[in-house]
Amino acid sequence: MAHGRFDNPIIATLAGVKDFFRKQDLSDRLLESDRADGQTVIITGANSGLGFGMAVEFAARGARVIMACRRNVPGVVDKVRELSGSDKVELRRIDLSRIESIHSFAAGLKNDNVHPDILVLNAGVALPESRPTESGLEEMFLVNYLSNVILVSRLVTTGVIRPPDKTRHVKRALRPRILFISSDSHQGSSHVDHEQFGTYEEYGITRGMNYYSYYKLVLNTWATELSRRLNPGPHPDIPVNVICPGPVHSEIIKEAPWLLRMILGSIFSVIFKAPRKAALPAVYMCLSRDFESTTNQYLHMFNRKKMDEKVYLPEEGRKLWDHSNEVWARHDPLAEEFMIT
Ligand SMILES: NC(=O)c1ccc[n+]([C@@H]2O[C@H](COP(=O)([O-])OP(=O)(O)OC[C@H]3O[C@@H](n4cnc5c(N)ncnc54)[C@H](OP(=O)(O)O)[C@@H]3O)[C@@H](O)[C@H]2O)c1
Repeated sequence: MAHGRFDNPIIATLAGVKDFFRKQDLSDRLLESDRADGQTVIITGANSGLGFGMAVEFAARGARVIMACRRNVPGVVDKVRELSGSDKVELRRIDLSRIESIHSFAAGLKNDNVHPDILVLNAGVALPESRPTESGLEEMFLVNYLSNVILVSRLVTTGVIRPPDKTRHVKRALRPRILFISSDSHQGSSHVDHEQFGTYEEYGITRGMNYYSYYKLVLNTWATELSRRLNPGPHPDIPVNVICPGPVHSEIIKEAPWLLRMILGSIFSVIFKAPRKAALPAVYMCLSRDFESTTNQYLHMFNRKKMDEKVYLPEEGRKLWDHSNEVWARHDPLAEEFMIT
């Protein structure tokens, strides 16, 4: 059985409080001139919390923003337009707990000739207990991890995300970037459990937090392997990076039992960062020249850091890649067609 870092949601929240007071080494590196004019940005889970904050900030910096959301919260697109002062904002539906929905979202982008310059894999859940999805996979495993594998694989193999055309002079905007929103809580999680990988594992409120941080370790390990596979040469074609936004005043605890929600919610509202502010390190990582020609970088808010050392082990990455594709193929007849080899 795999182990994450936290067994207790209150301890996890207190770690966030500590982060709030951490020095932000690179906070002055995001410049007004870091613009996204002419670029298309897709953000999963953009109808609340960090994703919403990023949507506003990217739109304010000139991007066309596609909010990839499970729910069309009434007025949410108008709110992003209003706060950003841009009307280049749209919402497309995707439910990451339904594999079929991931495919139809990706097919829609292909049909409409959308080629994102920036893809932010942000959506996530923190569930109070394990829950089966229609595919039989556990919901947090699918939403927080495997859906990202499926979405990225399909977008890359169908050319929706495509490497720059090397026969032409490559402008910055033509090199697509992929950013995974993770959590520093992945540090200290156990090795990827290859034996049990993808099997339905039961958890309740305490083990839920444990699985949350463990799946972030799994996500970071896959992102690192993706970075290796998409960028074999010295200059990255499709930079793949990972970030922990630090504590965000978001909806992430919306499914917690009410008493816990009251306690954590009051900490969130006083100490955790407003979504638009919390979004700035991610925006920096996607737009700044500091990350123009590097890949597999990790930021913890505005600080450069290493991920857990297990994330970088090539053998772990290879095994995880194969096991993820095997689990995907067992639950999706279309899987073989879209796997990155
Ligand atoms: N909050 C923090 O302190 C913190 C710290 C570190 C990392 N993070 C990470 O930041 C990311 C964003 O979380 P947040 O804190 O901003 O929480 P949030 O406000 O709850 O946002 C999560 C987003 O994910 C979406 N989502 C959930 N299940 C989905 C599904 N099946 N299909 C499509 N979208 C789905 C939610 O949509 P619905 O509205 O439909 O549920 C929502 O838009 C997550 O990856 C989280 O792990 C957060």
